[in-house]
Amino acid sequence: MMLFLAYITLSLVTVFPLCTSASMRPWELTRLSVTGLPWRGEEGLHEPLNTLAVEIRDPSEYANSQPVVECITKFPYASPPYHQAFNCTELSYGWWQFAFFPPKPLQDNSEPQYWNPGQDFTLELRLFSMSSGSWFEGQANFSVSAGGNLRGLCSAGGVCSFMVKEEMLPVYIQQKGG
Ligand SMILES: *[C@@H]1O[C@H](CO)[C@@H](O)[C@H](O)[C@H]1NC(C)=O
Ligand SMILES: *[C@@H]1O[C@H](CO)[C@@H](O)[C@H](O)[C@H]1NC(C)=O
Repeated sequence: MMLFLAYITLSLVTVFPLCTSASMRPWELTRLSVTGLPWRGEEGLHEPLNTLAVEIRDPSEYANSQPVVECITKFPYASPPYHQAFNCTELSYGWWQFAFFPPKPLQDNSEPQYWNPGQDFTLELRLFSMSSGSWFEGQANFSVSAGGNLRGLCSAGGVCSFMVKEEMLPVYIQQKGG
């Protein structure tokens, strides 16, 4: 009990000074889809045939009038732009960016050279908040394997489409920073 109280006291002391994040609540990912069109031939591998689309709801007060953020990017099968920061829709209170990459590198520390529409990936979201003048960052993992949070398939024609399972929405993303 004493320890517990001490822990709470410590947490309050350490957490509150950072709290411009006092007004911050976890981001809610309300939709995510990854789709891929068939590439048909070698050149197609470099065409932006894949689409990653994300919708985030930010329940924090600063986002009051603009709670929904849309993030979308198109990219090729070959050399996917892992870790590259893309802009989301423009909002007045801040600047949202997102990136995606494999959750863990291969054994030799490299990353897969080709995108597989059914592959596991990590989504990273970043918000530069004008009011606090600082960055916040949060991540979530997505997977189509058993028990994973994505559902979908590739059709015989080679069109692939995966989405977060409805029963797993929203996906809460705890942000850090400030
Ligand atoms: C992303 O948004 C920032 C801020 O509005 C802008 O300066 C930058 O050029 C944008 N980047 C791209 C790739 O559109
Ligand atoms: C995502 O998966 C990676 C690798 O398995 C893990 O290290 C990381 O903690 C996970 N991130 C979240 C937000 O669950």
